[in-house]
Amino acid sequence: MAGKGSIADKQIVVVGANRGIGLEFARQFLEKGNKVVATARDLSKASQLTKLKEQHPGLELTELDVTSPESRQEWAQSLRKKLKAVDYLINNAGVASWGGLGQLTEDELLHCIRTNTVGPLMVTQEVLGAGLLKNGSVVANLTSKMGSMSDNTSGGTYAYRASKAALNAVTKSLSIDLEDRGITAVLLHPGWVKTDMTRHSGLIDAHTSVAGLIAVLESSKPLVGRWYDYKHEEIPW
Ligand SMILES: NC(=O)c1ccc[n+]([C@@H]2O[C@H](COP(=O)([O-])OP(=O)(O)OC[C@H]3O[C@@H](n4cnc5c(N)ncnc54)[C@H](OP(=O)(O)O)[C@@H]3O)[C@@H](O)[C@H]2O)c1
Repeated sequence: MAGKGSIADKQIVVVGANRGIGLEFARQFLEKGNKVVATARDLSKASQLTKLKEQHPGLELTELDVTSPESRQEWAQSLRKKLKAVDYLINNAGVASWGGLGQLTEDELLHCIRTNTVGPLMVTQEVLGAGLLKNGSVVANLTSKMGSMSDNTSGGTYAYRASKAALNAVTKSLSIDLEDRGITAVLLHPGWVKTDMTRHSGLIDAHTSVAGLIAVLESSKPLVGRWYDYKHEEIPW
């Protein structure tokens, strides 16, 4: 299935929206006239999201820790009271891990995989189980070029690379399993973006990245099981 044209009047969930790319997704979707449910792990610390709600009172703020089964279940139940369907599920929450050979711990590796791979899959499963993903819905998972095998020419970064490569595999299977139901699963690479994750050392700002990624979702490009960056370029696996 290809992108579906202008994204307006849709019901959108952005996971991990209290800062960085997720916050920008929430902002741009709101500016385009969508209903947005945003998540943060701790709303009492989500000052930028609270400020965004002052400008857009319709923005719904919810708490979700993607690594916690209890949090995921409670959150998905509460989502059913807020939305009739999820047109776009943006699985954006993620953590970095830069540990190289000799420094990486098992705990760090597992935490990264739990957040970046297990989290998006289980969140998608909960939203699906709650009956909110329907014919026409899109699940967009934020991955990284660091998860590409063919792009890996520098080694290292074991946990982050492995977690995103596994997310890519997960998303490919979702795209196949959900296609019959008219649900699209797609991978998005935001580019190297100036956020807390990159200690603001990226090449582009979050606004440019997210505007490009939303344009990909709105484009006529085939989306099911594909992997695009913010410039609409397909990333080699
Ligand atoms: N920035 C880049 O250049 C770049 C490049 C490629 C891919 N990406 C991907 O793009 C996504 C967003 O990155 P970013 O640069 O915006 O990162 P960021 O500024 O570090 O923000 C990460 C977001 O994920 C949330 N998060 C982390 N662990 C979570 C958990 N267990 N449960 C729920 N939320 C959690 C954070 O919430 P807290 O504030 O509570 O921690 C925060 O909202 C990530 O998946 C990242 O891997 C980024």
